[in-house]
Amino acid sequence: AHSPLVDGFGRQVTYLRLSVTDRCDLRCVYCMSEQMAFLPRREVLTLEELYRLACVFMRGGVRKIRLTGGEPLVRRNVMQLFELLAPHLDDGDLDEVTLTTNGTLLSRHAEALFAAGVRRVNVSLDTLDADRYAQITRRGRLPPVLDGIDAALAAGLRVKINTVAMSGAFEEEVDDLIHFAHRRGMDLTLIEEMPLGNTGHDRSGSFLSLQHLRRSLEKRWTLVPVPDRSGGPARYVQVAETNGRLGFITPLSCDFCASCNRVRVSCTGDLFTCLGQEGAIGLRDALRGSGDLSVVDQLIRGALSRKPKGHTFDAFRPAESGIGRHMSVLGG
Ligand code: GTP
Ligand code: 5AD
Ligand code: SF4
Repeated sequence: AHSPLVDGFGRQVTYLRLSVTDRCDLRCVYCMSEQMAFLPRREVLTLEELYRLACVFMRGGVRKIRLTGGEPLVRRNVMQLFELLAPHLDDGDLDEVTLTTNGTLLSRHAEALFAAGVRRVNVSLDTLDADRYAQITRRGRLPPVLDGIDAALAAGLRVKINTVAMSGAFEEEVDDLIHFAHRRGMDLTLIEEMPLGNTGHDRSGSFLSLQHLRRSLEKRWTLVPVPDRSGGPARYVQVAETNGRLGFITPLSCDFCASCNRVRVSCTGDLFTCLGQEGAIGLRDALRGSGDLSVVDQLIRGALSRKPKGHTFDAFRPAESGIGRHMSVLGG
């Protein structure tokens, strides 16, 4: 038993977002550029190394682990990592192991995920229109994702839909997305687009403030605020007409950093203490070195003492306030 991981502002880290690959089968316009260069294999942590790293965080009091990417399910044998983590759910070290996925490969893995103790998945889906889906993802097809969602529900997983809010067609479609999610008992969370990486699409043209969208939703729906469940950045309302939950993630229009409980590690073992700041601490060498994990623990604590108070994204200056790294490095 080690002491808890606490940052310089007294925030305890209980949530690790671990990226298992920088690769993805899609090229969503807000996330990747069309021509992404991916990392050579040797730079990427093995599944065993990822697991050892997770163990260091668990000893420091992390109780929730989310695997992200890129797209986590494109990593070969990724189910082995879920299986390594599963015993920590049984013995009470972890409250939750989960993943954020684009859903394209979900039908293939849904049952194995449930068997490994996963109870909840977040699936990214921005539209129910097949043509728009192809445009936004640049190379995706909608039907496999819808099948993946069905398979996850059938396997007993709770599903949350993540939708990046963009001005234009989305605003006309949001009611359909609410119906789609809530009819199936799924939460729907809307996310403000954050300025990360040059993706070759015009962010200033697509940014939609969720404060603004919420006011327009309130003309058609009865939105009843509900207390936060996850400790995460989403603020939830209950939609009276559907009895479903709708979440708003508003990094730009409304700050939530004061209650931040998370850190992120890339698939190369770089620790990022804030999604919306440059700068990382490399853990890979220490992890691959002597095998003395207390060195890794010390590096993590040192980085945490310098964790920034919050991001510096600015809705009115997306270009200037943005971050060079692509969202796909950390998967959100
Ligand atoms: P839950 O466990 O369901 O609460 O998931 P989550 O919202 O923590 O994770 P998810 O992977 O579904 O993330 C949804 C969106 O929220 C992504 O676009 C993330 O980038 C964004 N997000 C999550 N945590 C943070 C955060 O700490 N800071 C910022 N700026 N965005 C975040
Ligand atoms: N801003 C906000 N959300 C983003 N995502 C990817 N790129 C961005 C961005 N620039 C979302 C994905 C997924 C989640 C992990 O992050 O759609 O739902
Ligand atoms: Fe935490 Fe940074 Fe996200 Fe703020 S922007 S909630 S500090 S990770």
